[in-house]
Amino acid sequence: MNALKRSVGWTVVFTITMVGILASSTWAQEQEVIGGGRYLYERFCKICHGPRAMGDGKEAPSLQPKPANLTTLRQRNGGTFPFWKAYRMIDGREEVTGHGTREMPVFGVWFRIPDDEVSIETEWADQVRGRIWQLLSYLQSIQVP
Ligand code: HEC
Repeated sequence: MNALKRSVGWTVVFTITMVGILASSTWAQEQEVIGGGRYLYERFCKICHGPRAMGDGKEAPSLQPKPANLTTLRQRNGGTFPFWKAYRMIDGREEVTGHGTREMPVFGVWFRIPDDEVSIETEWADQVRGRIWQLLSYLQSIQVP
């Protein structure tokens, strides 16, 4: 009887551990991508969009239009994170602005490989898409309800 109890006990412990490992590895991968995005955000976006992405970066006072609050992207889009709209905004290569000039840099110029040739098929272009993807994962993780 004790042996049975022990084996049931071990099964429970084993199951909980396995579920824990699976859950934490999913979490770890997500955190890795989001963390990469946070790093890029701090390097390239914070100066305008602010330390907490609320549109209040150091450069904000001198810009017209003002940098957007990036924590309300989902809220302002009826509860759905506007993934591709935001992607195109960050990339910026085919952005058509209806109102005046664009204040935000065109990060799609990252697609210009060093010899100034534009390509969507190089490893470098893969990295650019990865950067934008990571940035979006980070932005998605900081949306207000
Ligand atoms: C030089 C200042 C500046 C920098 C740097 C900058 N932005 Fe912006 N961003 C703006 C401004 C200003 C707007 C408002 C719209 C416009 O300019 O047309 C904006 C708008 C946006 C929007 C659209 C928001 C909406 O409500 O639709 C997104 C998404 C965005 N920025 C993301 C980023 C990300 C990600 C980075 C870093 C890779 C970044 N921005 C860097 C100034 C900046």
